[in-house]
Amino acid sequence: MTSLATRIPALIDAIAEQGWVVLDDFLSPAAIDALRDEAASRLGAGQFHRAGVGRSEGHAVRDTVRGDSVRWLDAGAPSPAELPYWEAITQLQEALNRELFLGIREGEFHYAHYPVGSFYKRHIDRFRDDDARTVSVVLYLNQDWVVGNGGELRIWTNPDQPAHYVDISPQGGRLVLFLSERFWHEVLPAQQPRWSLTGWMRR
Ligand code: OGA
Ligand code: MN
Repeated sequence: MTSLATRIPALIDAIAEQGWVVLDDFLSPAAIDALRDEAASRLGAGQFHRAGVGRSEGHAVRDTVRGDSVRWLDAGAPSPAELPYWEAITQLQEALNRELFLGIREGEFHYAHYPVGSFYKRHIDRFRDDDARTVSVVLYLNQDWVVGNGGELRIWTNPDQPAHYVDISPQGGRLVLFLSERFWHEVLPAQQPRWSLTGWMRR
């Protein structure tokens, strides 16, 4: 596998030119398996909670909007399985700041689990009252995801062309990056349990 460092320039170019990019094999298969095992054991231990919509007073769980459960990562105390992820994300963040002057200072990251039949309707990742979220980063943790499993991430790639979208399969090891303020996106209904580690780089 080519090192992340050698793949960063192409990734930066794609973000600069189109605002989103897909990068496969972000971490080794063993590292992805370890993250999924960790997420699954945390879910089993009751450490996930139903994800909500909106912030502070407006915050609410709405089954008609999103059906996933999440568990936030503690950046101050990464587990052994999380260390390779933090290292790679830090490398990425430094490159984004150096080359694109995004001014990212921190991040927030959570595991997400979509049970069978769940989805996340079309939305934008930035809150109306908080523009800190700059880059959305989704790493998929699924093993052998096939077409019939659904659960694709649909990104509307051109705000001026409502019919233009791409569907991205949540294959293990695949990382999707996009500018948080620019792209409407949704998670199509998953026909198998769907795992990811999702985050936002904030300025
Ligand atoms: C989100 C989101 C996309 C995905 O959590 O805000 O859009 O593919 N996730 O899981
Ligand atoms: Mn989103």
